Amino acid sequence: MTKQRLYSGMQPSADSLQIGNYIGALLQWRGMQDEYDAFFSVVDLHALTQPNDPAELREKTRRTAAQYIAAGIEPSKSTLYVQSHVRAHAELAWILSTMTGFGEASRMTQFKDKSSRYGAEQTNVGLFTYPILMAADILLYQTDVVPVGDDQKQHVELTRDLAERFNKKYGETFTVPKPVIQAETARIYDLQEPTSKMSKSAESHAGVLWLLDDPAVTAKKIMRAVTDNDGSVRYDRAEKPGVSNLLTIYSALSGRPIPEIEEEYAGRGYGDFKKGLRDVVVAEFEPVRARALELLDDPAELDRVLAANADRAAEVADTTLSAVYERVGL
Ligand code: ADP
Ligand code: NA
Repeated sequence: MTKQRLYSGMQPSADSLQIGNYIGALLQWRGMQDEYDAFFSVVDLHALTQPNDPAELREKTRRTAAQYIAAGIEPSKSTLYVQSHVRAHAELAWILSTMTGFGEASRMTQFKDKSSRYGAEQTNVGLFTYPILMAADILLYQTDVVPVGDDQKQHVELTRDLAERFNKKYGETFTVPKPVIQAETARIYDLQEPTSKMSKSAESHAGVLWLLDDPAVTAKKIMRAVTDNDGSVRYDRAEKPGVSNLLTIYSALSGRPIPEIEEEYAGRGYGDFKKGLRDVVVAEFEPVRARALELLDDPAELDRVLAANADRAAEVADTTLSAVYERVGL
């Protein structure tokens, strides 16, 4: 039986990934790479929608790829590549943009959020057409499943609509993909503001746990995490967001169910609980960080792996793009 195709990616928007990317994306991806024929991309074309220094963007792209590998995405098993290395992404995005209604694109809530946060000055048209490039990313690989956070669900819906529209007009060309929405229990919040999603593009880094941080810094951030005055280690997202978030992280990394952890810390203070969590996080990050730094120490070898994977990706993408060109009359 041939494996189903899976596609996912992340923007190279920081030097390090944060623990939410690790738990919400990398661990899930790693767990899926045997069952699926998986394509994991570092989406640097998407990152161009933000202001970027060229040398820094290239470095962040390399660092993001290194962290994928360090977290267990195997470039010999999955296709792990940089989006801009495969020219077909931008080409298919153009064709799909001519099939997307302006009103349809205007309904994307992420664009509304981002453009209102950035203001007119910083809002470029690429930010508006971002979901169409994402549709191209997915459709080029005849993707069956797309693991995404719920903030991306609307973009996958647009992708499905575009695939169906194209197929109807020009004949069966694209697989219509299905989103796999990340479980709420895999969503990690900022340690200082536990009602906001942790993000690598957060303004303050005080509550962000970076995969590549020095372990002492990670330890300090955990010990300083916001909790509450109630004093009991108990999961309650509404009333105890800080403690609940720490429990989520503890459970995701230890593989232990939350009730078992609550029981272990029953009648003990938050200090003990945080120390336990600190040990879990530091132990999990240590080998990942070491491996990432080792990979980054040999950029030529990393670039070679990425180039070979881009060739593999381009083979699939170019086949789809050729069919599309042919169908639309190019
Ligand atoms: P960021 O907000 O850190 O820039 P992205 O929006 O680039 O992250 O998302 C990259 C991937 O990481 C997506 O699969 C997303 O669902 C996942 N992710 C990002 N932040 C979190 C979080 N706080 N909790 C769980 N998963 C997250
Ligand atoms: Na982001």
